Amino acid sequence: MDQIVIRGGKPLNGTIAIGGAKNAALPLMAASLLTDGVLRLSNLPHLADISTMAHLLSDMGVSIAMQGDAPGGGHMGRVFALDASGLSETTAPYDLVRRMRASVLVLGPLVAKHGHARVSLPGGCAIGTRPVDLHLKGLEALGAEIELSEGYVEAKAPNGLVGGHVLFSNVTVGGTENILMAACLAKGETVIGNAAREPEVTDLANCLVAMGAKIEGIGTDTLKVQGSESLHGADYEVVPDRIEMGSYAVAAAVTGGDVVLKGGRADLIEVVIDVLRSAGVGIEEVEDGLRVSRKNGHLKGFDVMTEPYPGFPTDMQAQMMVLASVAQGASMITETIFENRFMHVPELVRMGADINIHGRSAIVRGVQKLSGAQVMATDLRASSSLVLAALVAEGETIINRVYHLDRGYERLEEKLAACGADIKRVRA
Ligand code: EPZ
Repeated sequence: MDQIVIRGGKPLNGTIAIGGAKNAALPLMAASLLTDGVLRLSNLPHLADISTMAHLLSDMGVSIAMQGDAPGGGHMGRVFALDASGLSETTAPYDLVRRMRASVLVLGPLVAKHGHARVSLPGGCAIGTRPVDLHLKGLEALGAEIELSEGYVEAKAPNGLVGGHVLFSNVTVGGTENILMAACLAKGETVIGNAAREPEVTDLANCLVAMGAKIEGIGTDTLKVQGSESLHGADYEVVPDRIEMGSYAVAAAVTGGDVVLKGGRADLIEVVIDVLRSAGVGIEEVEDGLRVSRKNGHLKGFDVMTEPYPGFPTDMQAQMMVLASVAQGASMITETIFENRFMHVPELVRMGADINIHGRSAIVRGVQKLSGAQVMATDLRASSSLVLAALVAEGETIINRVYHLDRGYERLEEKLAACGADIKRVRA
């Protein structure tokens, strides 16, 4: 298994290109199931999760033509043309869903288009129990019959789905995406209340509109969909990855560097920018993206609470904890989205951080220095926080289980090394 080895203490200077958002790309790929036309997606990141979704779809009979890399070089910005007209299978098996929970996003499109879907229940994961009950209730409100047996969800709507009112009791990104896709082919009007407003949901809605769907309220918490008989193919470019942007912004800040995030968009991470600025980080919009720097002055502690968009993203919580760990004074970081998303804390403490957990909150007292250690990645964002801590720590850090990072950060070592980081991947 690969390890990442980092010798910390080098300020990052240079340019990092931001890729397409994994969490937008996955539902967009699932949306290809809604049409017999070709959905051509560009700016797809080269990541393990994208390959898993491609594997799942092609096992179902979706043909996927890779149309080469967009300008940018390397594996940046891949283009896939997805054609689901020859679909032969409506089951998502345990083996793939277990590897990637987002596989559940095929449920809504399959039942809407084919009247049947059988998808393995994802089960819990490192960051929490993560049920899919709200997805299922939403589909039932659109007339699907749902049965659970042998670890699978079976959804049936032999005469098609019918528009309805879905009011989510909690904000759910995946649930909103599943119901939004299903509603596009349901008869009549669907209203989705308390819908997630994450930029990735907006990206999906915009793509569905490009495919012929009629959706009002995009970007708000109430989505109104007039169902269509069918959708057609489209060309669509995936939105930039706001979490990749935020993670590298923290990397520049903690190392005292100066980095341009090429393709970065401030409008996608406004609240993250506000917190970074309050901590003493310089951020400005430049011609080709965002410039993040901390040339002078200390970082200051801050308080942050994760919330659904436009609140502070849970996917940036672990990375901000590294910033708090090396800032002056105390910070309070509260996690409200997932019940078990402090798995990085014991590893950061092993590197010298001073963090105490009280229920859903972590009190972080800034320390003078972190020191390198052998650490273990537990999930994607926790792993990214270990990389950030290693970049600022004294000495060598060895990160194990880096396959988590490969799910969400494209060419991480290459991007950081190009800005002066001492980082390498080794085969253990
Ligand atoms: C998406 O997960 C993202 N994944 C996650 O990113 C992200 O952390 C999360 O949204 C929150 O922003 C993708 O987009 C592929 P939710 P999702 O449904 O859709 C509870 C990363 O690191 N819930 O908004 O699964 C759930 O348990 C990942 O890139 C129910 O109770 O998240 C959680 O506590 C990790 N019942 C909360 O809602 C349901 O039916 C929010 O989950 C659905 C969700």
